[in-house]
Amino acid sequence: MSIHYGLKGIVALESNISRIDGGRSILEYRGYNIHNLAANASFEETAYLLLKGKLPTTLELKKFSETLAERRELPGKIIGVLYNLPTINYPTVILRTIYSYLGDMDEKLFQINSEELMRKAIDLIAKTPTIIAYYQNIRENKPLTHPNKTLSHAANFLWMLNGIEPDRVEEKALDLDLVLHAEHTLNASTFAARIAASTLSDMYAGIVSATGTLFGPLHGGASHNVIKMLRELEGKDAKDIEKWIDNKLQKRERVMGFGHRVYKTLDPRAKELRKLAKKLDNLKGNAWIAVSDKLTEIVYRKKRIYPNVDFYAASVYANLGIPEDQYINMFVMGRIVGWITHMMDQYQNNKIIRPLQKYIGKEERAYIQIDKR
Ligand code: COA
Repeated sequence: MSIHYGLKGIVALESNISRIDGGRSILEYRGYNIHNLAANASFEETAYLLLKGKLPTTLELKKFSETLAERRELPGKIIGVLYNLPTINYPTVILRTIYSYLGDMDEKLFQINSEELMRKAIDLIAKTPTIIAYYQNIRENKPLTHPNKTLSHAANFLWMLNGIEPDRVEEKALDLDLVLHAEHTLNASTFAARIAASTLSDMYAGIVSATGTLFGPLHGGASHNVIKMLRELEGKDAKDIEKWIDNKLQKRERVMGFGHRVYKTLDPRAKELRKLAKKLDNLKGNAWIAVSDKLTEIVYRKKRIYPNVDFYAASVYANLGIPEDQYINMFVMGRIVGWITHMMDQYQNNKIIRPLQKYIGKEERAYIQIDKR
């Protein structure tokens, strides 16, 4: 019995959703290279491509975008929940809790025919930015900024979050970030979503599982830790940064935002996000990329590992003024499309996911009565 810790190197299923070539820095959604999508496709177009398996025509995209825009508002009872939360500490915990409430309100919770799945999919994708923004409005004691149907997915989120419409650069920046996060083969959170679907549990349950899995600092939680690190190192010279890294590595701690299970060269999404973060730095007068570049050189020299998507996502979000503990939720806003697409695929070709273990404990022990122990 051979054991593969972390399922490293194990092929668990076949999929036509996305492809990574980790040696050649290639990522494709449905066969389309991520750099082409980054240059040309909006988040809405990318979501359509992933969910339906083909690029939309102009009319199909218009209809899909309009449907998404129409489904953004939250039911009044959910808004009531957001106003009455017992604590407000971790926005991602609240987000996954609201998904559970939405599931409980869905009268067709267990229906998994394609029409129903698509209805749930659109609902979840459309409502996620509203949950995040309303939560933020409420915790800042501001009135809710309701969704604006005339704005794109990305622009509408920034509008709801800040109460002012973003400029074109900010809208495009968030839109690109969402495109880059939308899908990434069988990562931990997607696997969690598929495991839930494989038991024929409902779509909300899969999204709750995936959101909980993404929350960990080795996955989506990395970007929040990256910004803390960048703030700590901002303005320090290369020598001091190197000392800081040495100290971390000596303690066998991870440098957040570096390394990847599949990419053994630079993550193509990191390449796109670095460009974007640099452009935003120049516009906003920040220097996140200056310190990021110093870190990249030092970490590569010491560990031969590259920055990943979360490393540069942190600078993009900082430049967009996103609250730091909401960074993981930005990842959810994009990746929810991939989770849902994988769940739909799992329902269609289902086999319950249930690996084996190797037992290493004692066997066939005699039971000892409690007064004899
Ligand atoms: N900082 C320091 N060393 C790292 C590292 C990091 N961020 N990522 C990997 N390494 C080192 C490991 O210590 C190990 O070195 P060793 O062989 O000398 O012990 C080697 O690189 C291989 O790492 P491993 O843990 O086997 O890789 P993995 O595939 O299991 O883990 C990650 C992948 C992403 C979990 C890991 O790189 C990590 O923890 N990164 C930081 C968190 C992060 O940014 N997550 C977001 C991913 S998109």
